[in-house]
Amino acid sequence: MAHNTVPSITLNNDVAIPQLGFGTFQIPPADTKAAVLTALEAGYRHIDTAQMYGNEREVGAAVRESGIPRDEVFVTSKLNNDKHDPAAAVAGVAQSIEALDLGPVDLYLIHWPMPEVGDYVETWRALEGEYKAGRTRSIGVSNFQESHLERLLAETEIVPAVNQIEVHPYFPQPSLRAFNRNHDIVTEAWAPIGQGAVLDDETLAAIGAEVGRSVAQVTLRWHVQRGDIVFPKSSTAARAAENIALFDFALSDEQMSRIDALDADRRLGPNPDEFNWVPE
Ligand SMILES: NC(=O)c1ccc[n+]([C@@H]2O[C@H](COP(=O)([O-])OP(=O)(O)OC[C@H]3O[C@@H](n4cnc5c(N)ncnc54)[C@H](OP(=O)(O)O)[C@@H]3O)[C@@H](O)[C@H]2O)c1
Repeated sequence: MAHNTVPSITLNNDVAIPQLGFGTFQIPPADTKAAVLTALEAGYRHIDTAQMYGNEREVGAAVRESGIPRDEVFVTSKLNNDKHDPAAAVAGVAQSIEALDLGPVDLYLIHWPMPEVGDYVETWRALEGEYKAGRTRSIGVSNFQESHLERLLAETEIVPAVNQIEVHPYFPQPSLRAFNRNHDIVTEAWAPIGQGAVLDDETLAAIGAEVGRSVAQVTLRWHVQRGDIVFPKSSTAARAAENIALFDFALSDEQMSRIDALDADRRLGPNPDEFNWVPE
């Protein structure tokens, strides 16, 4: 369907990624295969998972079962926080590849920098090796602050393709997004609808009424027009369909500005400078 035609963004290594995907955080493994199959049927061609989510195996099973050619579905996974040691990182990539069972991963991220646990620069060098060996088509980071990126840029060879960070109207991250953009790193916005926190917003509701769309659609369209990659999560088929129907309407500059003005510097998730949680 035309309204589900998702544009692609070209990463700094010339790999194309659909700008909108399907998030799988907090989808229990037992529900994941069905949720991902529903998303693929709705037109999603980009799935975001992580070792931490415990559902890589089910994501891979859904992609295989869908019958969609492998090269038409973009799959991202992320290294778990207990695998920052370089040897563990290499083993971690192998574990993801085994669990997904889809061949090379399209994009592999360091999930959190965890500045007090090991040295993420060493972890990044391990991912550089995995990239060069062809086990992942691109590599990136998640939850990296400017200071963390500065070190990768100064001390390593490959510029991350993406930085996946918390971004939504209440936490639009202007300076980190600008830093990413200035270094040819694409911003991926996690919790794009604030894990539901923005859904009761009066400004977003008013704009929704103006364009005849839901608050979730208005918010996701705002991200898309800012040029970020998004992957809203929904375990509800109707919402998954709603969240991809973004490409047959546009917000005006004035509507974009009203959403920009909702900036409350309100982070929902952990502060990456302080988050050093390692699973047992
Ligand atoms: N790198 C990281 O550290 C990190 C952290 C968090 C998330 N992520 C990634 O980003 C993805 C998206 O973030 P997120 O899952 O945290 O939050 P989100 O996508 O902003 O919000 C998901 C929540 O919103 C609800 N929802 C979705 N669409 C809706 C709609 N159209 N109308 C009303 N409610 C709707 C969902 O409920 P139902 O499912 O019940 O419909 C769910 O409770 C994750 O799934 C994950 O892939 C990455």
